Amino acid sequence: MIQPRRHSSLRIGFFRAVELTAALLGGRRLYHRVHLAPGRLLVRRERLELEGLPTALRGFTIAQLSDIHAGPFLARGDLDGVLRALDEEAPDVVCWTGDYVVHGPENMMPALDELCRCIGRRATFAVFGNHDYKGRRELKISEALMASGWQFLRNGGATVEVDGARVAFGGVEDLEEGKGVDFDRGAETFAGADVRVGLCHHPRGAPDFVQRGAHLVLSGHSHGTQVDLPWLRRLGPPHPGLRARLGRAALIVSRGLGVIGIPLRIGAPAEIVVVELVSARGGS
Ligand SMILES: [Fe+2]
Ligand SMILES: [Fe+2]
Repeated sequence: MIQPRRHSSLRIGFFRAVELTAALLGGRRLYHRVHLAPGRLLVRRERLELEGLPTALRGFTIAQLSDIHAGPFLARGDLDGVLRALDEEAPDVVCWTGDYVVHGPENMMPALDELCRCIGRRATFAVFGNHDYKGRRELKISEALMASGWQFLRNGGATVEVDGARVAFGGVEDLEEGKGVDFDRGAETFAGADVRVGLCHHPRGAPDFVQRGAHLVLSGHSHGTQVDLPWLRRLGPPHPGLRARLGRAALIVSRGLGVIGIPLRIGAPAEIVVVELVSARGGS
């Protein structure tokens, strides 16, 4: 577990005032036009090279979506660019790595119809982020989405099978706000799988999944620092970079789709990450 960051009521009040002012000045429309509209949203392509990858899994794609933070700056109609990108990419699996809301589950409901369509061809897996536990109402989020095929991996896993080859996915509760994080249960489907993928909102959990055999860990949380200016970086959570090597495994950190505080991103575009599984050079 990681000690959650707690702000003073004075600081929270200041942030709320800034957020409200930005919303009243049309921040949501501006954010959509600049970062989320079709043609503006970044589709970041990553390749995961694996030795001995079964033929059936070559070209298998995983789209990672993260940190939408529905609320003052993202609501109904703002995921049109995301839906278009998913239509074009047609990923096998969509993985959501948390932070669906800013203040609570009610933030998400205006965009619920669109979120229900942000799914993969074969499966859709999700974990919670620290923002989703506000008032311990995270179940409202998962209940609203599960009817459309989303599967929340709360210290648990699932597998996707393609012509006898297996891709295992595991997820854990958030390291800051989740009550009880259990990587052993999160990795329970890894045994015997051809490809093993861990979902953990906070990047600091990646080594725990790698110790349990993950080839790939998908995280979010940092927003790529959201405003990537040297003198502002320390205001946000630590950012380990967009892709890091952990032994023979890879950690991929999404910059996410939404924002908190201010409807502004600098040097950190809103993005979808599309990971393609490929056979390592020299692999059979
Ligand atoms: Fe976030
Ligand atoms: Fe977060």
